[in-house]
Amino acid sequence: STPRFLVTQEIPEPGPSILREAGEVDVRQGMSAEELAAAVTSGDYDVVLAQVSDRFDAQLLAEARIKGIANYAVGYNNVDVPAAAEHGIAVGNTPDVLNDATANVAMLLLLGAGRRAHEASEYLREGRFTGLHPDLLVGQDVTGATLGIAGMGRIGKAVAHRALGFGMRVVFTQRPPRDREVSQDELGDLAGRVTQVPWDELVETSDFLSLHVPLTEDTTHLVDADVLRRMKSTAVLVNTARGPVVDEKALAHALREGEIFAAGLDVFENEPAVEPELLELPNAFLLPHVGSAEVGTRAGMARMAAENAVAMARGEKPPYPVEA
Ligand code: GLV
Ligand code: GLV
Repeated sequence: STPRFLVTQEIPEPGPSILREAGEVDVRQGMSAEELAAAVTSGDYDVVLAQVSDRFDAQLLAEARIKGIANYAVGYNNVDVPAAAEHGIAVGNTPDVLNDATANVAMLLLLGAGRRAHEASEYLREGRFTGLHPDLLVGQDVTGATLGIAGMGRIGKAVAHRALGFGMRVVFTQRPPRDREVSQDELGDLAGRVTQVPWDELVETSDFLSLHVPLTEDTTHLVDADVLRRMKSTAVLVNTARGPVVDEKALAHALREGEIFAAGLDVFENEPAVEPELLELPNAFLLPHVGSAEVGTRAGMARMAAENAVAMARGEKPPYPVEA
C-alpha cells in the first residue's frame, strides 16, 4: 500500500518532493501533544517526520501504530529510543550535515557574549552612542584565551577548528562529567593541537566553556550552581546543545551576581519558554534555537529526514539510523 507520512512542521525542499514521490503526505502544523498522540495511534500513518519538540515517550510508543520516526534534527532526546526499538519502531536523525552550522552559532554566541554584542547593539539603537570612549563596552579577550569544550564529538571538533583559527587555546573533556581517554587518532587533524583535561579542570580554567554533549541523565544539569561558582568570574558559558544541560535558574543567578561574565545560549530548559530573569540580564546573549538555521544545512537535513522516512515506510533500514 502507499506509504503515508505525517509531517509535524513544513520542511524545506527537497524533503516534500522526496516524500510525495514515495507516498501521501499530511502536513499538520501546531498539533498539541494530544493531537500528536491521536494521530500516531490512529493507524493512519506509517512514519512521522518529527521535530525535537514532538515527544515520543514510552507510553505513546507502546500504543503507536507507526513504523518509524524520522527526526528533523541530529538530537533525539525527544524519543525514548529503547522503547521505540522494543516496539519495532525505527528512529532516524540528521547527523553531520549541521556540524558546521551549529559550530558557527557556537562561535557567534562565544563572540557575542564575550564582546557584549547584544548590549552594544541596544546601546546604539537607543541613541546612546556619542563617540568613542576607551572604556565603552569592553569585553573579554578572545585570542589567547582558553576555550573549554565539553563533549568533543562532531560538533565539538568543528568548534575546536574555528577556535584554533581565532588563536584560542583549546582544552576539552570528552564525555563529562566522567571521562574517557581520547586517542590522538580519534582527534584526527586536531591531534596535538587540543588537550584533554578532567571536567573539574575544564570548569575551573576555561575562559570560555562551550557545551556539546547530548542530553542524557548524566548531562542533565551538568552545569549547575556549584559548577557556575567554580568557573572564573570572567568566564563565558556557551550552550548550543540542549537547554536542560544547564540549570537555567542557577545560571540567571550566576549572571546577576557576577559569578561568571556572560552566557550565550541557543537552547533553553523548557523551550519555547525562557527563564524570565534571563530576558532582563544584559550579559545573557540569547538566540531562539537557530543552531542549524543555514539554508544549505536545512535542505540537507530535509533530504536526510525524508530519505529516512521513505526507507522506514518501506520497512527498510533508514540510511541515518539512531541505534538503541
Ligand atoms: C537541533 O537542536 C538538532 O538536534 O538538530
Ligand atoms: C584550524 O584548524 C586552523 O586552521 O588552525
